[in-house]
Amino acid sequence: QAKKLSDYKAPEFTITDVELSFELSPEATALTAVYQVVSASGKAGTLILDGQELKLLSVSLDGQLLNADSYQVTAEQLILPGMPAKAQLELKIELNPKANTALEGLYLSNGAYCTQCEAEGFRRISYYLDRPDVLARFTTHIIADDNTYPALLSNGNLVSSTLLPDGRRHVTWVDPFPKPSYLFALVAGDFDCLKGSYTTGSGREVALEFYVDKGNKQRAHFALESLKRAMLWDEQSFGLEYDLDVYMVVAVDFFNMGAMENKGLNVFNSKYVLADQSSATDTDFFNIESIIGHEYFHNWTGNRVTCRDWFQLSLKEGLTVFRDQQFSADMGSATLNRIDAVKTIRTAQFAEDAGPMAHPIRPQQVLEMNNFYTVTVYDKGAEVIRMLHTLLGQAGFRKGMDLYFKRHDGQAVTCDDFVSAMQDANGRDLTLFSRWYQQSGTPQLKVHSHYDAKKREFKLLMQQHTAGTADQAEKLPLLLPVRLELLAEGKSYPYLLEMTEAEQEFTFAVSQKPIPVLLADFSAPVKLHYQYQMDELLLIARDAKDGVARWDAIQQLWQMQVIAAIDAKNTGAEYLLPGELLEFYRQLLAKPLEDLAFTAELLTVPGYDMVAEQFDEIPVQDLVWVLQNFQQQLATKLVEQWRLCYKSLHPAAYQYQEQHVAKRALRSVCLQYLAFVVGSDELLRQQYQHSDNMTDQLAVLRSCRTASHPLFAELMADFEQRWNNDVLVLDKWFSLSASYPQSSVFDTLEQLTAHPQFSWQNPNRVRAVFGAFYQQNPQMFHSADGKGYQVLADVVLKMDSINPQVAARLVTPLLSWKRYQAQSQLQLKSVLQTMLAKDLSDDLYEKVSKSLN
Ligand code: ARG
Ligand code: ZN
Repeated sequence: QAKKLSDYKAPEFTITDVELSFELSPEATALTAVYQVVSASGKAGTLILDGQELKLLSVSLDGQLLNADSYQVTAEQLILPGMPAKAQLELKIELNPKANTALEGLYLSNGAYCTQCEAEGFRRISYYLDRPDVLARFTTHIIADDNTYPALLSNGNLVSSTLLPDGRRHVTWVDPFPKPSYLFALVAGDFDCLKGSYTTGSGREVALEFYVDKGNKQRAHFALESLKRAMLWDEQSFGLEYDLDVYMVVAVDFFNMGAMENKGLNVFNSKYVLADQSSATDTDFFNIESIIGHEYFHNWTGNRVTCRDWFQLSLKEGLTVFRDQQFSADMGSATLNRIDAVKTIRTAQFAEDAGPMAHPIRPQQVLEMNNFYTVTVYDKGAEVIRMLHTLLGQAGFRKGMDLYFKRHDGQAVTCDDFVSAMQDANGRDLTLFSRWYQQSGTPQLKVHSHYDAKKREFKLLMQQHTAGTADQAEKLPLLLPVRLELLAEGKSYPYLLEMTEAEQEFTFAVSQKPIPVLLADFSAPVKLHYQYQMDELLLIARDAKDGVARWDAIQQLWQMQVIAAIDAKNTGAEYLLPGELLEFYRQLLAKPLEDLAFTAELLTVPGYDMVAEQFDEIPVQDLVWVLQNFQQQLATKLVEQWRLCYKSLHPAAYQYQEQHVAKRALRSVCLQYLAFVVGSDELLRQQYQHSDNMTDQLAVLRSCRTASHPLFAELMADFEQRWNNDVLVLDKWFSLSASYPQSSVFDTLEQLTAHPQFSWQNPNRVRAVFGAFYQQNPQMFHSADGKGYQVLADVVLKMDSINPQVAARLVTPLLSWKRYQAQSQLQLKSVLQTMLAKDLSDDLYEKVSKSLN
């Protein structure tokens, strides 16, 4: 039964206080839940609580045990008619965490108890008003064997801990901040704990505690330091301080997502906590800092001010992603971070808009909420916040944030409340801007220019149009902030245009014909169409002020090459990369820019996803072939340059530090090209064996994989043996194996799932193998016989009975069958139809049924 945003009603009853007592046991955990229930209207009525897969033992009202006929239990509800206006409700429930493979609610991860409640997982722990606009104070008692589970954790502050005569311990946690049930957490286990502390600007001493699997303490230092940087950054950037005496992070192996911001007790996927130079790459370090930041920033944007209902998810996620992006930009390179964000939008988000699951950043209709933790809600949501930041400026944005917290601290609010705060703090009407919250789809921005030499006038004619999407046929014009540079006389003149109409003309007085740098900093999440000439793009790549625009010019150049090469291929002609482009690369290699990481980005041919996005019907195998061919051409034609550049970048002892990371990035790019030419074996082997860090070792394996280099098998065998006991690292090996672009991969996939370290119950393993297969192996995933589709469909069905959330994520690439060529369309459709005929979870049903509509 789908829910609609327009059906929102304030709750008739609320719960002000919750007291939970857990007696932990793997297959029969006893829970007593006591709620103070109050009617909003002051009248008696029917109380309806949410609950799923619960064993209800008893119900008492104000101390009186109720007869089973005085309430009603259905598959999803506990219904209590005749509920007084104010009462105490007590439930006794039995839970089986061991049987919980969906990893929602209370479950076991390697023997430790943990919880995941967002979005609607609390109802798998107890019957409750499981909606974010019910805010209650939580007290949590945990009783468990003291030897087996020395760490017993929940939200808030620990107020008591008593050893019972039977060897169990009873601890009590009180969270003083009223919160919705999705922020509840409980953890019990035997961990190593890395401790630190942080003193807030106003002098609060905060204990920082990282709970990790035994033996992994040394790998948690970077996460701890990242947390301290995040805490300081939020004080300096937004004046926001932490509000409890302890901040705990628990790293678990079994986790559906990246991490969860439970009040005072974050639970993290261990891959986003644990890192050291020998086991983690620069990217891993980056992700840890960013996700630690993200969850910490939620304490204000999400926890102190939360969502009224789940349609408002972007209120906290879009805003928090924006905040973590700003944090990362301040910790490293703003340009590189922005480029990463742009890649995410242009690949995954534009693809989502073009597929059957298209939705606005505030969805209007939802069957399974877990399906809406999407790149649209998160990353396009962050782009919408960024546009506000662009329109209002840093200071105006801050004023809006201050007002938002002043008005709404302690409340559950809507996206409209957020926009109103921005509007009122800045005295600026944002009605038109709010359309971004209602409208799905990717706007197309077409631009034509004209220079009148007599009048010395440059005109830009801009047209915006958003095509209908699967969820919404009619579209309206949006407010688009368009950053612009006009390049003329060796100078750059910056502008910020605000486009509000379907069609608009902008006129500039300039003494010579300028080159327009449109959509600098990717100032709006749109697809830009402008007829650039190659020499103009090369000039932008050299002279634009904005780094993102410079990178983007090269991207566009490559997109043009792709089209030209496919045309040539279809007529059987050979396509050679133009001399100007080679010359640009030759010069860049001879004299890299000061920013080596940016240089590396410019030297990289765009990935498959990036070039695929410009096609309505994606010619997969042609694209794979063309991209491979381009790399081959660049490798051969510039072989000496790649070699010299590589040699000039002497490796230093590993440090995760901006310049070091940049140097490694550029070196990896050189190595990637060199793997395409004969005679690189020595160099590859050398780097694999002698580097002191995972980044450089993995770069070798990746290069060999991409170039199908003969060394691949040998080095992979060595890697497997070396890391066989370390699942986090072994995941990298799983992914590399599954992304090998040759037909042998189908046998490999079978061997991988039979590997002793593989487990269908662990989402990290399943994603490492099959996520990599469809994301990094387009060639084989889309193999002509349809085998790739069949393999993934079988996995999705198998996973649906183990963990529906994981199944529903893995199904994504099968849904967009309309984007592929005729043969693939038929194969995909038949695979989806077979799936739909089965008994599916809501998660999977929502997606598969939409895709066939
Ligand atoms: N709020 C978490 C975060 O973004 C994500 C939780 C997602 N959970 C889910 N079941 N979809 O930090
Ligand atoms: Zn989040």
